[in-house]
Parts: sequence; structure tokens; C-alpha cells
Amino acid sequence: MEDRQAELSLRPRYLNEYIGQSQVKDNMKIYIEAAKLRQEALDHVLLYGPPGLGKTTLSNIIANELGVSIRTTSGPAIERPGDLAAILTNLQENDVLFIDEIHRLHRTVEEVLYPAMEDFALDFVIGKGPSARSVRLDLPKFTLIGATTRAGLLSAPLRDRFGVVSRLEFYTEDELAFIVSRTSDLLGVDIIGDASREIARRARGTPRIANRLLKRVRDYAQVRGDGIITERLAHESLERLQVDPMGLDAIDHKLLHAMISRYRGGPVGVDTIAASIGEESQTIEDVYEPYLLQIGFLQRTPRGRVATPAAYLHLGLPMPEQRP
Ligand code: ADE
Repeated sequence: MEDRQAELSLRPRYLNEYIGQSQVKDNMKIYIEAAKLRQEALDHVLLYGPPGLGKTTLSNIIANELGVSIRTTSGPAIERPGDLAAILTNLQENDVLFIDEIHRLHRTVEEVLYPAMEDFALDFVIGKGPSARSVRLDLPKFTLIGATTRAGLLSAPLRDRFGVVSRLEFYTEDELAFIVSRTSDLLGVDIIGDASREIARRARGTPRIANRLLKRVRDYAQVRGDGIITERLAHESLERLQVDPMGLDAIDHKLLHAMISRYRGGPVGVDTIAASIGEESQTIEDVYEPYLLQIGFLQRTPRGRVATPAAYLHLGLPMPEQRP
């Protein structure tokens, strides 16, 4: 719990402290200001993109900027329609309800959400048979913020009920270097020269990874150095963590090596790759693949995934002979 508290206090609380995602941020600023001017709830927001890019952080910031409370839950945590009804009836006017992993909502729960999002109402059926009647209960106006790594898995009726749909992008090296410096300040650790950039380069576009690497480098600098993070100490400790200069870790390597050595670089299906390296297909699709696609090491084709020449080059492996 203490760790989680510490984690939360590292997160930016206002938009002007939040680094990166400038387009999403600029748009959100306008929508937030307009909602505040009209003293209305902000329209429902769907945030999607790979894990660790700041969907939860941004949701908390939105609530803070609106000056309202936020209630946080997740798709799989809401087991029955009654659980969602209890949450909705306890919200205050204009509050934010944050549902993480919203693509994993149970179908029966999702159906309660439709009238709640659209009309701020809950529909019940009371009684059975011929005397059954439908009753509508008004809810406070609220903003639903849904987060997902997989917008494609959302049902169309749910997706259509979000007024704002924003995709979070991988961060640039400059942005990540800023984030590493900011977190170092908050942790009270000295980081000098290009050490923050060395960490940023290997953080695969992801602040959560940058901050995690920073903590491991801090440990190393404390034990092997005098506590000050230099570029050399950062480099050494990241090498030991098996994070390569492109930010690829042991699992990325295993995945690419398996594709290349067992399937001639593809095309090969995700399920086949997953089985051959003992990982879940979903983890590969959500966590590993997006970055490998982004840096151009993988391509998606209708017949499966293909390792690109850039991947062969990075791994120092020869390209297979072209088939006649
Ligand atoms: N820490 C984690 N993500 C961040 C971001 N986008 N901006 C500032 N600090 C962060």
C-alpha cells in the first residue's frame, strides 16, 4: 500500500504538469473549460492505447481540473448489474466515474451503462408476469471515463456513447527524458549529464517503464556508486536488466528469435508465437506487439505477423534466402 501511495504521489495532478500527449491535452483543456463554464458534466471520454502511457493518470487529472471527485473501478471488478447501479447512485452531480479495462465489462453490466450514459437513468423491471412494470430512476449527471488497451474489443453501442475518443501515443525520447528528470526530482535523487536520456531511450516510449527503470538505476547507483545517477551507471545497470539499447527486453528477444528461427520470420499467427514462447496471446498483443510495430520490427499482414529487415539487423541475424 505504501508503494502504491508513493507511486500515486509521483503522478502529475494537473494538465500543466503532464508531459507529452500534447494533442489530447490541448483538446481536453478546451472541453474541460467549456464544461466548467456551462457548469455541466464533461461528455463521456474513452482513452485507449498501450499500457503505461498514462490513461489512469490523465483520468485523475481530468477530475482534478474539473474540481469533482473521481470513483475508480475496472471492467472485471463489476460483476453484477447491481454493483454498477450501486456505484452510479452514489455519485455526486458532475463526478467522474473511471472504468479501467472497460472492454472487459460483462454484457449484462454494459446494458445498464447504456441508459446511464445516455439519459442519466437506470431502468428496472419490478415484479413478474403480467403485473411487471418498468421503472426509471434518475441518476446524477456524471462523466464516464473508460480506459482500454483495445478499443477494437468494445461493442459498437458502447463506443458510440463516448463523446470524446482519444488515443494515447507512445512518448518521444525527449518527453521521456523530461519525465525521468521530473520523477528524479520528486524522489530526491541526483541524475546528471545524459543519464535521463539513457533511461528514456530504453523505456520503449512508455513513462511507466521509464519510471521503473529509473528506480532500478537508482538502486544500482546507491550500491555501486555514491547515489548520483551518471550516464555510465545508468548504462551499466540497464545492461544488467537485459534491456537493450532499443528498449527491448528478454521477452521481446525471445519473441523475435522464435519468429525468425522457427517460422522463417513469418507470416505467423499470434497464437502460434504465444504458444511457442509460453506467453499469453493477449499479453503479446497488448504489451509487446504495439511497440515492435511502432519501431517497425514487426508488420501485421492478413496471414499473420512478419519480422522486418530492421528486426533482423537489430538482432544481427542474416535474412533468409528469398524463395523462388
Ligand atoms: N509521470 C508518468 N507519466 C507522466 C507524464 N505524462 N507527465 C509527467 N509525469 C509523468
